[in-house]
Amino acid sequence: MKPQALGGMSVDVFLAEYWQKKPLLIRDALKNVQAPLDADSLAGLACEEDIESRLIIQRGEQWQLQHGPFEEAAFSGLPESHWTLLVQAVDHWVPEAAAFLEQFNFIPRWRIDDLMMSYASDGGGVGPHYDNYDVFLAQVSGQRKWEIGGKHNDSSKLVEGLPLKILASFEAEQSWVLNPGDILYLPPGVSHNGVAQGGDCISCSVGFRAPSHAEMLREFSEYLAQRLSESDRYSDTDLVLQDNAGEITPIALAKIQQIFSHYLTDEQAIADWFGRYVTESKYEHAGASGDEISIAALGEHLAAGGRLARNEGSRFAYIGEGSGAAMFVDGERIDISMANQQLVELVCRETTIGGGDFDAGDDNTALLLGLVQRGALYLVRE
Ligand code: SIN
Ligand code: CO
Repeated sequence: MKPQALGGMSVDVFLAEYWQKKPLLIRDALKNVQAPLDADSLAGLACEEDIESRLIIQRGEQWQLQHGPFEEAAFSGLPESHWTLLVQAVDHWVPEAAAFLEQFNFIPRWRIDDLMMSYASDGGGVGPHYDNYDVFLAQVSGQRKWEIGGKHNDSSKLVEGLPLKILASFEAEQSWVLNPGDILYLPPGVSHNGVAQGGDCISCSVGFRAPSHAEMLREFSEYLAQRLSESDRYSDTDLVLQDNAGEITPIALAKIQQIFSHYLTDEQAIADWFGRYVTESKYEHAGASGDEISIAALGEHLAAGGRLARNEGSRFAYIGEGSGAAMFVDGERIDISMANQQLVELVCRETTIGGGDFDAGDDNTALLLGLVQRGALYLVRE
């Protein structure tokens, strides 16, 4: 498979040689690329209550950071140059942005976080920094000069007293000017600095989820704790007299270890927790209120050639194998039957489905109805 976003490179080569390993510049990856959203619409999103956005203005050594939502007037008072507007999770709100993200489906969907878009005036950028996750930086309008340097981590020094995380020492080792259609892939930790050249610079960042071990342990423990009863406790029916009552014995410690390994090797619990965790939506999303449609009306819609689309803000995933087969949508588990399997695979892979794409049995229609009613799918009305 040679997806457009890799500009003719096969996925196998990309994964083996670059993914999580080294940067890759892909010239002209996206032919005739169109920005999923223009500057005005991006500014419009940044004025919305539920949307995460930032405005960064650089004045010499000074950096100013403002968080949205913004008033329209915020944009009219901006300087000529050296500012950038960044809007998070544009794919949750704009179908064209969701479609843009689909081009990166050669990486498992659950690993993809969201599409951030930035608009920058001449000289605008966020300063030299590193991210803890992989990123594809796609140029979709104007030009941006990217410099990349060495690898960094949380022991790297940052410039003190700034509202942004800017590396105290950044030495560019390579630099390129990206034109519309070019993509720069960076693995986690590689320092980078993107500076808009000329105006009207729009970049799309495809970011990935790489949950920290600390967060996963915290979340999994919380999941387990909620399911345990107060009577699940340390017990020692085999207790014998100790030489010294003040000692914590190896036997006691082995019991603690046994308790932990009992939970940490529970494959079903891990799968159930992870499916929920990784499909949790970061934001409350538009349309999630659902459609109170009847099963008959849904059947008619599909029979008439109508399609169903995934809510752009919803996250879908499934676990296919073994007794724990399940589908996960927006942090919840949906148990599925054997008859649902093919439909589940389809709806977790495609952004829209039509009646002709799957068996229209009762089990399947019921599953789809549930997804429509919870707002994870919506009817596409032409
Ligand atoms: C930007 O689009 O200006 C910043 C993206 C990044 O450096 O991760
Ligand atoms: Co970055």
